[in-house]
Amino acid sequence: MMTSTTLTAPTARLLLNWYDRHHRDLPWRVSPPMAARGIKAEPYHVWLSEVMLQQTTVPAVKPYFTNFLARWPTVRDLADAPSEDVMAAWAGLGYYARARNLKKCAEAVTRDHGGIFPDTEEALKALPGIGDYTAAAVAAIAFNRQAAVMDGNIERVISRLYAISTALPAAKPLMKQKVALLTPADRPGDFAQAMMDLGATICTPKRPACALCPFNGSCDALRLHDPEHFPVKADRKTKPVRHGAAFVAVTADGAILLRRRIESGLLGGMTEVPTTGWTARLDGETSPDAAPFPAGWEPCGTITHVFTHFELRLSIYRVAIPSPIQADNGWWEPVTNLDSQALPTVMKKAITAAIPLAFKHSKE
Ligand code: ADE
Repeated sequence: MMTSTTLTAPTARLLLNWYDRHHRDLPWRVSPPMAARGIKAEPYHVWLSEVMLQQTTVPAVKPYFTNFLARWPTVRDLADAPSEDVMAAWAGLGYYARARNLKKCAEAVTRDHGGIFPDTEEALKALPGIGDYTAAAVAAIAFNRQAAVMDGNIERVISRLYAISTALPAAKPLMKQKVALLTPADRPGDFAQAMMDLGATICTPKRPACALCPFNGSCDALRLHDPEHFPVKADRKTKPVRHGAAFVAVTADGAILLRRRIESGLLGGMTEVPTTGWTARLDGETSPDAAPFPAGWEPCGTITHVFTHFELRLSIYRVAIPSPIQADNGWWEPVTNLDSQALPTVMKKAITAAIPLAFKHSKE
């Protein structure tokens, strides 16, 4: 194996020099000029942003991050917040188990650590919802620990730098080993963020801008004239398709029937319009027979939503009724108030199929 300090330190230095000039300014980030003014990373901000960024892209996270901090400026505030408020503020980011764990983690930090995040990878990993990635990212970025951070962008950069021919996901341990060797003792947090920025802006999946890359003198994939070939991926299986139906009932004064999903399982505890179970079976599950009450349900198309492990196709039905009727474990919510509800994106799509302007005032 290479001796890390002699061969890899200059490589890490090339990247840090690039980062000093080309880093992205992000709301949760202490950039090099800020650090030079003595500003220190705030572990709560780093943790919150890293959990959010596992869901989606930097531009999508920005408004959520700003809103969370405005409402819950410290980890104690988040720990004390009502769960429904946190779930509603998370709606649209997806994968709600993470929001539940976010709240549990804030409670654990407040209760067990006096509101101060622990500063080692091991202690961070012991907190609810903090896995290998988040522990390494928070340890490096918030506490300057020499932790090897791996995410999708970094996998791409490292697989190209060393032309790793093993396919993902089998290549992950080797990639992590390479990142660990490359991560410097000096500024490991900036190094991790620089790898992410390089992956997001230069070492992109398609048409990477190798002419601008600080690694272009040492990149094995570029030497092979085929950076886009990396990372090599195992054949992707197509996702199974599940079918179901969703029912949007609207009263004359503009209220719709909503209910709360059970706590456990997919989208647990979130708000929904009544739906059938989402099973692999086609027949019987997509017809208005499964509606919450008998009425003249009209079909208004199908929506598709892709979850991590399957694709869901929901047939949408709508009915207009004069006034609210008693419905088991549901409530009637004014359409003008839907933004205050913890409605996941799939439900927003379902409601929009039935009421096209339902979310016209919403930020999303
Ligand atoms: N993606 C995940 N974490 C990030 C970070 N800290 N900076 C930029 N992009 C990221």
